[in-house]
Amino acid sequence: MSDAPATTILLIEDEDGLREALAIVLRRAGYGVHESASCADGLRAIDRHNFHLVVTDLSMETGLAGMDVLRHVRRYSPDTEVIVMTAFGTIENAVECMRLGAFHYITKPINSEELEVMVARSIEHRTLVSENRNLAQRVRGAYRFENIIGTAPAMLRLFEQVTRVASLDSTVLIYGETGTGKELITHAIHNRSNRASGPFVAINCGALPETLLESELFGYVRGAFTGANTNKKGLFEEADGGSFFLDEISSAPLSIQVKLLRVIEEKETRRVGDTRSTRVDVRLIAASNRDLQAEVAAGRFREDLFYRLNVLSLRIPPLRERREDIPLLAQHFLQKYAARFERPMRSIDPAAMKILMGHGYPGNVREIENIVERAVALGDGESLRVADLPHEISGQDGASAPPAVSGGTLEDAERGFILEAVKQCQGNLARAAKELGIGRTTLWRRLKRYGVSVPSGQESEEQ
Ligand SMILES: Nc1ncnc2c1ncn2[C@@H]1O[C@H](COP(=O)(O)OP(=O)(O)OP(=O)(O)O)[C@@H](O)[C@H]1O
Ligand SMILES: [Mg+2]
Repeated sequence: MSDAPATTILLIEDEDGLREALAIVLRRAGYGVHESASCADGLRAIDRHNFHLVVTDLSMETGLAGMDVLRHVRRYSPDTEVIVMTAFGTIENAVECMRLGAFHYITKPINSEELEVMVARSIEHRTLVSENRNLAQRVRGAYRFENIIGTAPAMLRLFEQVTRVASLDSTVLIYGETGTGKELITHAIHNRSNRASGPFVAINCGALPETLLESELFGYVRGAFTGANTNKKGLFEEADGGSFFLDEISSAPLSIQVKLLRVIEEKETRRVGDTRSTRVDVRLIAASNRDLQAEVAAGRFREDLFYRLNVLSLRIPPLRERREDIPLLAQHFLQKYAARFERPMRSIDPAAMKILMGHGYPGNVREIENIVERAVALGDGESLRVADLPHEISGQDGASAPPAVSGGTLEDAERGFILEAVKQCQGNLARAAKELGIGRTTLWRRLKRYGVSVPSGQESEEQ
């Protein structure tokens, strides 16, 4: 069938006049049509060709019936869609057909327009199913590195660099905007290094006030300051023999930077209040979403530390520079959250995918993950539809304004979304949490963070 038109249909109908008429209609609509006047002939055709769609009469004068065609297709040609034509009054049979996997049934007398619409829809469905199977296979198969999805050339290059860098044992500096996967890459480096069986320790330098950061990093001895009632190991010591991830390194205060430099240069760490140092064998991996060189120029980052860290540097491209990865990422997160929430969602509707592919993603991969997670949590169908997407990105729900997300931060968008839901539920937090697909405790915490007073009696009892 190499010279056949792109879409081919097998039409099985024993009534010659009807079959010929329907064949004309379908050919005029641009399909390639193979006619069979009996089930037996139809089955032979199915074995020989790969039809996109079979349109079959349900009850035929002699021998086999449409039901056998359906079984045969399901068994030997599972990608082929089936539409059954039934005479009025055999609806039970038609229902049985649907159960066996027919896409649709149409009752006689056949309305040719109705048939055309149904044929178009089932072919679209087939395409969607096979495209999604493709995506699912790709997600499952070759296109992942550790758990990191990426097929864009820049990502493949990055994976290569990670592989090379992993075994070198030098300090690595990772650049990437928020949500691009810096932490994932760091884990990949550790897992592929010869320290993989050693500890992996991480700290976010931007998350702690200076003194706390210092005692976390280096530990302290008893009596070093008020409250230091025992000796405490620092994280450098904890990471001995393994890798130490310094996240958001640009946020480390200058005083801490000096101390980090000393550990790197002397391979020794000293607890706060201690006079002795301990030798440590640690590989450092640092990450920053800010340009450290610019921070050096601005006097906020020590130049000597910068050079110590910048031995090997990797850059993770933002999602907007690798849009081809969006469908795979979306499918990956769909599978992840459908499994986690035990939802039947398996695929992404083409219209929804188009919106996902057109979005700006200032929050990068984390943002698409959040969008899909929310859609899976809130949706109830087998596919993720436009209606499951936040209207800030779908532009639906009467929102003709430009998407809020690309202007503000992801947090702004989330805030707006949550407050809107609470308003819609007239302040009933239990209902709002359910609508949002998040736990009540989470909702309650968010509201507190936004400075919204929670109506009394609605504080989460899970606190
Ligand atoms: N390429 C990818 N494939 C699959 N998941 C990814 C990918 N990149 C990021 N993620 C996921 O996106 C989320 C954010 O990733 P990660 O925490 O590594 O980003 P980050 O760069 O460290 O962000 P931040 O700067 O905000 O700390 C995580 O849930 C991570 O699993
Ligand atoms: Mg991070």
